[in-house]
Amino acid sequence: MLDPTRIMERCDALARHSELPGGLTRVFLSSEQRAANALVLGWMREAGMSAKLDAIGNVVGRYEGERPGLPALLLGSHLDTVRDAGKYDGMLGVVSAIECVADLAARGKRLSFAIEVIGFADEEGVRFGSTLLGSRAVAGTFKRDLLDSVDANGVSMRAAMRESGFDPERIAQAAHRREDVLAYAELHIEQGPLLEAEGLSVGVVTMINGATRLAIGVEGFAGHAGTVPMNLRRDALAAAAECVLAIERRCGAVPELVGTVGKLETLPGAVNVIPGKVRFTIDVRSPRDPQRLAAVTEAVAEMQAIARRRDVAIKVATTHEGGVAKCAPWLQEQIGAAIAAEGLPVRGLPSSAGHDGMAMIDLADIGMLFVRCKKGISHNPAEAITLADAEIGARVFLRFIENFQPHGAVRS
Ligand code: GLV
Ligand code: MN
Ligand code: MN
Repeated sequence: MLDPTRIMERCDALARHSELPGGLTRVFLSSEQRAANALVLGWMREAGMSAKLDAIGNVVGRYEGERPGLPALLLGSHLDTVRDAGKYDGMLGVVSAIECVADLAARGKRLSFAIEVIGFADEEGVRFGSTLLGSRAVAGTFKRDLLDSVDANGVSMRAAMRESGFDPERIAQAAHRREDVLAYAELHIEQGPLLEAEGLSVGVVTMINGATRLAIGVEGFAGHAGTVPMNLRRDALAAAAECVLAIERRCGAVPELVGTVGKLETLPGAVNVIPGKVRFTIDVRSPRDPQRLAAVTEAVAEMQAIARRRDVAIKVATTHEGGVAKCAPWLQEQIGAAIAAEGLPVRGLPSSAGHDGMAMIDLADIGMLFVRCKKGISHNPAEAITLADAEIGARVFLRFIENFQPHGAVRS
C-alpha cells in the first residue's frame, strides 16, 4: 500500500538536515547532505532495493526486474536545495519513487525491467554556481573543468569532493550506459500556479525551458566614501546596479523570457568604502533557445557598454547552459494514460523551472509528472502540497511504472 503520510513525513525528515537552523538549506557535498543521504539509503534498502552512493555522491537504489541485470527505468529527482528552500522541491520526487518501489516489493511484484531510483546530489547549483552536477555525471556529460570551480569560501569542487570521501578522478564511473537505460521519469512539484488555478492535482510535463547562468565580476576602485568626489569614482556597485536594471529591462520586454539576478556580493563591503569589486549572478530562461541566447548576447553587450562608460572592468563567465528539453511524446502518453486511469483529466503543461531531465535527456528519453503546489510557491519556505495530492501523485506514478512499456514495445 502506498503510504502518503510516510511520503510527507520523509520530506519533513529530510528538511531537518539543514545548514540553516529554522530553515532549509542543503548544498552539494555538505555534512547535511551526508546525513540526508544516509536517510535515503536506509529508506531504499527498507523498500527492497540495493542502494549505494555513486562516484559523485548521488544516492542510487536498484530494484531488480524479473531477473537481475535487466535494463532500467530510471526515476529520480534531487536532494540538494536552494537557500531557505521549501521541503518538496526535489525531495518529493525521490521519496515518492521510493514509496512506489516499496509498494511493488511488498506485493512481491517484479517487472520486465529494473527500476533505479536516484537522489541527485546537485541540481540547484547553489554551492558552485554550475548546476545539474549529479545528473550530468549519470548522463556521462559532467565537464571535468568544473572541478576547478570554487565555492564562496574558496574551496574547489575537487577539494570538497575529496573531503567528502569521493575521488574526483572517478566521476566517470557514475555514468550509465545507454543500453542499460529505458527512460528517465521524474515526479516533481509544479512550482507554478497553473494546476491549482485549474483545480487539478497532477499534470504531464511537455517540455522544460532552457536556461543560461552567468557569473559576473565587476572591478572598479575602492576608495574613501567621504573624500572621493562623485565624478571621480569608479564604483563597482553603481555599475552593477545599472547592469541589473539592464537585465530586467531586456528580459521584461519579451513575455516568455525571464531574467534574474539572484546573488550579489559587494567588496570590501563597508559603509564608508566605495565598492571596489562586485560579483553577481544572472539566470535567463525561455521556452525558446534562440530567444534566450539573443537576450544573453545583448545583455552582455549592454553590460560591457555600461562598464566602458563607468571605467570599470567586467568579466563574464558562463556557469550553465542548457537548451530546451522536450519530454518524449511516448512518455507523455504513458504518464497521461496513468492519470486518465485514475479518473483524472490529463493536462499537459511546460515547466518554467529547470530539472534533472535537462541533463538526463543526453542519456535517455525523459518524462515528468507534476504535482500541484500551493499558490505555485517554490524556492521559498512557504512551499506546500496537500497529503491528498501527494497520494494522487504517487498513485499515478506507480500506475505509470507498473504499466511502463519501453519505447517500441507492443502494448498488451
Ligand atoms: C531549479 O529549481 C531551477 O529551476 O533553477
Ligand atoms: Mn529548485
Ligand atoms: Mn527541483
